[in-house]
Amino acid sequence: MTLLKAVKDDITTLRVDAIVNAAKPSLLGGGGVDGAIHNAAGRGLLEECRRLGGCPTGDAKVTSGYNLPARYVIHTVGPVWHGGSHGEAELLTSCYRRSLEIAAKMHLESIAFPAISTGVYGYPLLQAAGIAISTAQAFLEQSSSLQEVIFCCFSDGDFQVYNRLLSTRTT
Ligand code: APR
Repeated sequence: MTLLKAVKDDITTLRVDAIVNAAKPSLLGGGGVDGAIHNAAGRGLLEECRRLGGCPTGDAKVTSGYNLPARYVIHTVGPVWHGGSHGEAELLTSCYRRSLEIAAKMHLESIAFPAISTGVYGYPLLQAAGIAISTAQAFLEQSSSLQEVIFCCFSDGDFQVYNRLLSTRTT
């Protein structure tokens, strides 16, 4: 059975098969978790990202992990929050689904997500965490190689929200 769990940590330190990056459409690095991942991975990551030709919002692309403990980085582009009536929920759902599809296709066993779109892109955390958990849960109901899906929180407040939602979800 696949484990869904929240941890409070810096995602760049996690020794998992893949970490997910909350990237921008150019995939050429930025601030927040994107900047932290590029800093920790080193120049090789940026060079591989340059060859990918960007990524549309809601989609995902994979690279190696370079100097990270994670073997791969799955870069996904979350939606910018514009109030919720501009397809944000569908696009955020798609980020989680596409990242999980790539991980499953590569036969990966463990993946860690940051709280995509909830920083610079302004998506309300509670709603975003609900989408993260329900999309992962729905995906894992199909058979998949994944054994561990980690929601990596950067603040105590985010960690509490994820834990509350995880403890009250229906199985
Ligand atoms: N580990 C885990 N989570 C982190 C880390 C880290 N090292 N650093 C930041 N975070 C968290 C933030 O606290 C937030 O909860 O990641 C979440 C997403 O925040 P952002 O990184 O701002 O991502 P997002 O809102 O999706 O905005 C993406 O920001 O820097 C740019 O290039 C990036 O343009 C893109 C945009």
